[in-house]
Amino acid sequence: CGPQLANSPTVIVMVGLPARGKTYISKKLTRYLNWIGVPTKVFNVGEYRREAVRHYSSYDFFRPDNEEAMKVRVFDATNTTRERRGMILNFAKENGFKVFFIESVCNDPTVVATNVMEVKLSSPDYRDCNSTDAMEDFMKRINCYQASYQPLDPDDYDRELSLIKVIDVGRRFLVNRVQDHIQSRIVYYLMNIHVQPRTIYLCRHGESEFNLKGKIGGDSGLSNRGKKFALALNEFVEEQNLKDLKVWTSQLKRTIQTAEALQLPYEQWKALNEIDAGVCEEMTYEEIREQHPEEFALRDQDKYYYRYPSGESYQDLVQRLEPVIMELERQENVLVICHQAVMRCLLAYFLDKSADEMPYLKCPLHTVLKLTPVAYGCRVESISLNIEAVNTHRERPEEAKKGPNPLMRRNSVTPLASPEPTKKPRINSFEEHVAVSSALPGCVPQEVPTQLPGQ
Ligand code: G3H
Repeated sequence: CGPQLANSPTVIVMVGLPARGKTYISKKLTRYLNWIGVPTKVFNVGEYRREAVRHYSSYDFFRPDNEEAMKVRVFDATNTTRERRGMILNFAKENGFKVFFIESVCNDPTVVATNVMEVKLSSPDYRDCNSTDAMEDFMKRINCYQASYQPLDPDDYDRELSLIKVIDVGRRFLVNRVQDHIQSRIVYYLMNIHVQPRTIYLCRHGESEFNLKGKIGGDSGLSNRGKKFALALNEFVEEQNLKDLKVWTSQLKRTIQTAEALQLPYEQWKALNEIDAGVCEEMTYEEIREQHPEEFALRDQDKYYYRYPSGESYQDLVQRLEPVIMELERQENVLVICHQAVMRCLLAYFLDKSADEMPYLKCPLHTVLKLTPVAYGCRVESISLNIEAVNTHRERPEEAKKGPNPLMRRNSVTPLASPEPTKKPRINSFEEHVAVSSALPGCVPQEVPTQLPGQ
């Protein structure tokens, strides 16, 4: 729940029988929306139900004729009946929310059984149960919903609703009445993700000549140690023994030279180029501190939003990298050879890191991060290839740990489409967003001033 654009927040409502991937889709979509700058939060109704009924005994709880349980099952997240969806639509209407339904339909018993095994058997509901009994109980639980299940029907009953039906884990889609920009991005995202097992490798280029001098940006070639890393990376890739591995680089010399050592074709992406430091390109941090003291201080105050004069912010970088993320979602095994700031942005997407943490994520040179999708997230392994390199990481200064300075210049705004004449600054968190919108009648978000006192 939560995407907010233009004039009303959106409630995304998941629909589908148990074990159809509703939690998976919600968590993944939320991670994406937060990463692109749309504050979003998942409300897992099953968790509210577990709060209300601490001890789960069996599928009996979900039987449609269990009147006692039905009282608690207001916390039912399948939203599989029209009555239930009608209740949500009424609530949304009264509170000024847009509603977008995502229904996951899957009748392949193997897919359902795999999902039950991967994520349901470890649920707190089955804490004291062996896996055979848990599996049997869960299948009976699904049956409790079958009889009353009314799938979304955009051809007839649900013509007016905004929705997407995801059929057979993305084999087909049915989309109805997309109302706005954010809904179309949700649809596009859902049409690009897949659940095939695969691995994504992220690393930076080998150490560069500029790294040795402590300079940022530019387009220098590899140092001798950087060249050794490229050779070590080639060995590493061979050891991984992958059937097909795509290799992506930026258009900068240092990533291309690194990829050249691999015995694989590679693709260059301009979108993967390092953050543009504008007037500070090719300078050391010391030089920036001396020659642009105000800029240096401003960046430390809020590194994510800070945009270098004539350059970019981390926020800009996220926007630039969105097509890379989308393509990564479409692909299987990929090695991305990129740059420090770029790697932080990509990593933040996979590990669900906030905008505040992102610019300080540790991405050392000559280290490969191996990302493997698991259940509802991503496992990360950090593999150092044991070639020495300079440390280019600058810790968050003590002053900045106390929180952003309220008087700082905010010259970076999210370029999301909006019918309003002026663009809004990005809102950091869901709570902040709610605070802004709920202070106003009908939850209609108001313009937040982009100019701050003293500017
Ligand atoms: O500017 C180039 C650096 O790789 C990005 O690092 O954002 O910590 O300054 P920084």
